[in-house]
Amino acid sequence: MENPTQHLTPEEQFQARIDADVRIEPKDWMPDAYRKTLIRQISQHAHSELVGMLPEGNWITRAPSLKRKSILLSKVQDEAGHGLYLYSAAETLGTTRDQMLADLHSGKAKYSSIFNYPTLSWADMGCVGWLVDGAAILNQVPLCRTSYGPYARAMVRVCKEESFHQRQGFEIMQTLCEGAESQKAMAQEALNRWWWPTLMMFGPKDEDSPNTAQSMNWRIKRFTNDELRQKFVDMMVPQAEFLGLTVPDEKVQWNEARQAYDYGEVNWDEFWAVVKGNGLCNRDRLGARVKAHEEGAWVREAAMAHAAKRAERELVAA
Ligand code: 3HC
Repeated sequence: MENPTQHLTPEEQFQARIDADVRIEPKDWMPDAYRKTLIRQISQHAHSELVGMLPEGNWITRAPSLKRKSILLSKVQDEAGHGLYLYSAAETLGTTRDQMLADLHSGKAKYSSIFNYPTLSWADMGCVGWLVDGAAILNQVPLCRTSYGPYARAMVRVCKEESFHQRQGFEIMQTLCEGAESQKAMAQEALNRWWWPTLMMFGPKDEDSPNTAQSMNWRIKRFTNDELRQKFVDMMVPQAEFLGLTVPDEKVQWNEARQAYDYGEVNWDEFWAVVKGNGLCNRDRLGARVKAHEEGAWVREAAMAHAAKRAERELVAA
């Protein structure tokens, strides 16, 4: 029987697979631009996980109890694992770990803007878990259905762990809000600092996004930046009200006609300044990553030497 797609060009056959929701796997033909944008997005996602460990790592030695310390330790360790899944997914597209890390360390590659902000109080650990991981979940659950197989499969495991991250953050905020006035004030002060930078995590407005339209057409993205940002506001405003906190945006207002919250305008100058590398903590974050990479060189060398020795023994034994 004639193959119905054999008269199509490779690009047309590829798009037909995307439109039929057939996963694209590493050995499948794919347009160079598809490969390139996936390497860009997946590697930057991985960088975000690794750099995201730093602001929270700052509070591991300062956690208010052994229980909080062990929860935070476990969460930060999860983020490292998420980074490794994602680097591995990106490597299936032909890039290397060394290349991706060199791009991060040189400032050529990006990581999520949110990790440019300092974590100044324990309530920040609550906000990072509640808001930032909440935003990450909204962005990452649709990525479990992204068209590139290895990326989608990496996301399934990541999302399971993110749910724990978000719940522990919300629980920190709830504990503070049900505590002394000074603790509730600390929670409100942290929300004031983290609300707008979290809205920026979803990326620029759709009309200012050079990648979104194509990423939607290739089903890399299942929702646009603005759609996910709206979902986030609609989800988080009632949670802030439940905590007895006020979202720092006087334009937040339920819109019956839209069945969604209206909200104010993000400070896009701040967003683009951070994205371009001028974020508050960018120099510290990259410095910490470069230092960790250099100090970890001996571990990589030892692992490579061990692997080479074992391969040699197996060769001799064969
Ligand atoms: N921070 C830094 N750069 C950003 C950004 C942000 N919040 N939002 C957009 N950008 C960059 C993009 O990378 C792009 O630059 P590039 O072309 O040089 O890569 C430019 O700004 C234009 O943005 P676009 O919207 O056109 O880019 P995308 O289509 O790639 O959309 C994105 C941006 C929504 C972040 C998308 O890349 C994405 O969904 N990535 C996967 C999820 C991810 O990376 N999340 C980051 C947080 S991970 C996290 O929070 C871990 C949790 O455990 C704490």
